[in-house]
Amino acid sequence: MLRQALLALSASGPARDAIMATAATRSVVARFVAGETIDEALAVTASLAAGGRLVTIDFLGEDTTDPAQAAAVTDEYVRLLGRLCEAGLAARGRAEVSVKPTAVGLGLPGSGEKTALENIRRIASAARNAGTTVTVDMEDHTRVDATLRLVGELRADFPDLGCVIQSYLQRSADDCRVLAATGSRVRLCKGAYQAPDGVGLASKADVDMSYARCLRILLDGPGYPMLATHDPRLISIAAARAGLAGRDNDSFEYQMLYGIRPGEQARLAASGAQMRVYVPYGSDWYGYLVRRLAERPANLMFFLRALSSRR
Ligand code: FDA
Repeated sequence: MLRQALLALSASGPARDAIMATAATRSVVARFVAGETIDEALAVTASLAAGGRLVTIDFLGEDTTDPAQAAAVTDEYVRLLGRLCEAGLAARGRAEVSVKPTAVGLGLPGSGEKTALENIRRIASAARNAGTTVTVDMEDHTRVDATLRLVGELRADFPDLGCVIQSYLQRSADDCRVLAATGSRVRLCKGAYQAPDGVGLASKADVDMSYARCLRILLDGPGYPMLATHDPRLISIAAARAGLAGRDNDSFEYQMLYGIRPGEQARLAASGAQMRVYVPYGSDWYGYLVRRLAERPANLMFFLRALSSRR
């Protein structure tokens, strides 16, 4: 219930303006977001890389309604990739980027899919020049088919383009079977959005079971699974399954969000596993923040305490 209410809040314009204008929000944002500028994102990336972590950087923003804005977001990614390359952080995919299709135009009326395809093509090309890769984030259930279509098309030229499967959708195991092909980079997460009955799974237990089923399909296949979860039970299941499938540490990776379970991130990296941290930056952090609050009541309490202590 609370999660649904918070996710609805993430789409509310007035709530967004009120919360973003509150100074106390900043201290909570700082826990989950690297900063507002490329320089700040690079500083966090360099420090994570020095600690043996891989990184994927997200320039925050979604639901772009203007082609010029979609082009500006694309330009920012191209600049970011250039800076990562200059700083020596991009080589061999150590730091890559994650892109939301609606941030680069997927939602534009009429030409959305074509615009997003061309913009992601530009970003993938800049990533290749920098020696690294791109992962296309997955948004709400209404965007899944279009996102998988554009990933499929772009993979003809960029076979290392990553995509995301969300285990909260009923279709996810079938999608994993299609995507578990040689070289295919697939991030598996639970999903940070809501879906109606018949499209999404009803309970958290079902979503977790679906995650375990999907990770088996991906780890048993010939692709490159990217297991994005902070859930200790699923991380142990993944480690056991990777062993049974005879996988080397460099044939798959774990992924977690910046600011969440940093101790576990360090433990996995120290164990020799590949651990990639998703680092968001930018000023458009509202939707991202509300999704993180919705995932965990303790985060919401932390946020409410920060608000009341500044009154
Ligand atoms: P779950 O929510 O069950 O949490 C398990 C445990 O992890 C909790 O008990 C707690 O200890 C810890 N935890 C989880 N979330 C926390 C939080 N916000 N604060 C503090 N502790 C927390 N989603 C999507 O729809 N599309 C996408 O493209 C992506 N991309 C993506 C990339 C990466 C690298 C990650 C890690 C996640 C995503 N997600 C995503 C988000 C994902 O779908 C999901 O919402 C979150 O990862 C939370 O789910 P968990 O698997 O961690 O499990």
